Order: sequence, then C-alpha cells, then structure tokens
Amino acid sequence: MSQKILLLPGDGIGPEVIAEASKLIDVLRLNHGLEVDVTQLDIGGAAYDQSGDPLPEDVLIQARASAGVLLGAVGGPKWDGLERSKRPETALLKLRSALDLYANLRPAILYSELADASTLKTEVVADLDMLIVRELTGGIYFGQPRGIEQREGERVGFNTLVYSESEISRIAHSAFKTAQLRNKRLCSVDKANVLEVSELWREVVEQVALEYPDVELSHMYVDNAAMQLVRNPKQFDVIVTGNMFGDILSDCAAMLTGSIGMLPSASLNLSSQGLYEPVHGSAPDIAGQGKANPLATILSLAMMLRYSLNHADLADKIERAVKQVLKSGLRTPDIAVQGGKSCTTEQMGDAVIQGLD
Ligand code: NAD
Ligand code: IPM
Ligand code: MN
Repeated sequence: MSQKILLLPGDGIGPEVIAEASKLIDVLRLNHGLEVDVTQLDIGGAAYDQSGDPLPEDVLIQARASAGVLLGAVGGPKWDGLERSKRPETALLKLRSALDLYANLRPAILYSELADASTLKTEVVADLDMLIVRELTGGIYFGQPRGIEQREGERVGFNTLVYSESEISRIAHSAFKTAQLRNKRLCSVDKANVLEVSELWREVVEQVALEYPDVELSHMYVDNAAMQLVRNPKQFDVIVTGNMFGDILSDCAAMLTGSIGMLPSASLNLSSQGLYEPVHGSAPDIAGQGKANPLATILSLAMMLRYSLNHADLADKIERAVKQVLKSGLRTPDIAVQGGKSCTTEQMGDAVIQGLD
C-alpha cells in the first residue's frame, strides 16, 4: 500500500536541495520497491508570493494526511520586513505546532572522511556520534504573553519562557527512549541556576528517569554545554533540552560535523508522523548558484524512511551511499578543503543516486 509523502521546497536553497531528494525518491520508487504518493507544495516566502499566505490551508491538510513531510528551508531577506504572522518562519512554526511535532531529533555525526572539514582538531571530533533531542512545540517560541508594546514612554519587547510538567515529561520520555537505543547516556541541558522553568524541568526529568534505570542521566547548564560541545563533544551521547537552547546548541553541533549542510533532523509527534528538514536555513548568500550541499536533506529523507515509512532498509542504503560518495572525495564547497576541487548540488545528488547499488 502506498504511503503519502509531502515535499515542501520553500525558499532560497530549499528548492535546490529538495530537487535532489526528489530525484532520489523517484529512483527508490523505480528500482528499490518504495511505494509512495508524492505531493509537492509551496510554503514560506514562495507561498506568500503566490497567495499572500506563507502557510496555505492546503499545506496543512496535505501535511496532516501524510506519513512524512520533507521540507527544504524557509525565509530570506525578501520577507524579513513582513508582519510576523506573514513571515515564512511563522509558517514553519505553525506547521510544527499544528501537527504537534514536539520531539525534534538532531543527530550530529562526523563522517570520518570529513574530519578535515571541521574547524576543530581532528582528534576532538573524529568518530563523533551524538544526538540532540530538542523540545519543539513549547518554550519561549510559543509562550504567551508576547509582543512589543508601549510602557512608560518607551517600547518594550517581551516573550515568555514557559513549560508545563506534561510538556517536559513527554520530551523526557522521548529522550530516554532514544538514549536506550544508543549508548544509554542522557544529558539534560537547562539554566536551573537562574530560571524557575529550568528548576521544574530538572525535577520532572529526574522523575521520568526513575522509569529508565538503565540510562545514566546527568544535568548541565546551557552555557557550560555550549563550551563543552566545542571542548570535548564526544563526552555526549544524547542531549535533551528546550526549544531555544536546542536551536542554538544544534547549530553549534552542526559545525562539529564539518558543515551545517550535513545535518538532518526529524520532528515527530506521538503517532510517529514526522516533519523532516535539514537543520540549516535558506542560505540566501548561496541560493541559486548550485553551491548548496544537499546531503542534510538527503539524510533527512533517510530519517523519514526509518522513522515514518518503516523502511530502515532504504534508510541504510542512502546512508551507505552518502558515506561512499564522501569517501570518493566528492565535495560541495562547504566541505571542500580550502583551494580544493568542489562539485555542484546536482552532481552531489547524482553521485548519491549512483552510490545506491
Ligand atoms: P542558514 O543556515 O541559512 O545559513 C548560515 C550559513 O550556512 C550561510 O553562510 C549559508 O551559506 C551556509 N549554509 C547553510 N546551509 C547550507 C548548505 N546546505 N550548503 C552549504 N552551505 C550552507 O542561516 P541564516 O543565514 O541565519 O538564515 C537564513 C534564512 O533562513 C533566514 O531567513 C532564517 O530565518 C531561515 N532559516 C530557516 C530555517 C528552516 O527553514 N528550517 C532554519 C534556519 C534558518
Ligand atoms: C531551525 C530554525 C527555525 C527555529 C526557525 C527558522 C524558525 O532556526 O529549525 O533551527 O528556530 O526553530
Ligand atoms: Mn536553527
């Protein structure tokens, strides 16, 4: 039986990297037994330009009906001046929230072939394999009240960092379960020395830990975690943290792997429906030039096959092909050695397809 998947290219390099994933899906359908119905729609700035709405109703309807959604990226300077409700980024946040995709998994794996591409010393990052579990539908991104208002003769901007016990508990369960499947070490990152919301976070995570005696739990303040990520990232197996801390730490983890163009992600709800996206954004500085690295998106497709489409076999195949392509020395500019040869987005996509068999 065919499963439905939805492709949302979005803006900037989004369409370029999704085009490579889309070619790969076609080949998987043709030659590798993948049965999927594929729909493609605009989101973000591209949708706003078409319809005045960055998240048209049809996107939500199709997303709800799909087992997996693969998104490129949204946003760019062209839309930065729009009121917040019309901004491309708001569309993405609404989509995450509407599908209740609270568990964002962001693995940072250093392919040994890329040890040179990291700005860190090879011995610090070699064989890195860690995972950030980021809470994605709560925290300061969604807390009320929020706004900019006039107070005592000047404007004041404000947001609210809020987490309920149930929100903390469900992301903690996701993180412990994920850790159980890996090296059974979980580090919860917070700011409990300053924030009440982190105090509660820590308490609830401790409670949930009682159900996972096989997982070793530790706690770390977020400022120290940022430092430890660049000092000695291999001390981490799984990190669990809130929405904004997770956003920041995952970009930091991205650089450990050589380039943000390498980092995939999965955002899951309780029924394993998922939104899959590269961690990077629309990269306006390189859009339209064939310079974007499509591997983060291709690896996000692999995560979709594994977590939402029950096709671990095909996920393995893609991941093996990516490894092989890197081994062969093919590099988009972001992972090329300085002054070395580099390939285009399309050439990288084609090489992964060739590496499938
Ligand atoms: P960015 O991730 O788009 O770019 C940061 C840097 O990384 C740039 O130099 C860019 O060229 C490079 N880069 C990113 N992806 C790359 C790839 N695949 N291959 C090679 N190089 C790559 O972050 P930014 O510049 O802060 O944001 C640009 C826009 O993207 C903003 O509008 C922002 O809101 C949006 N954004 C969207 C998402 C998303 O849709 N999930 C995520 C982050 C940022
Ligand atoms: C990400 C992005 C998004 C976020 C933006 C574009 C809304 O930075 O997916 O990491 O902050 O979650
Ligand atoms: Mn981010």
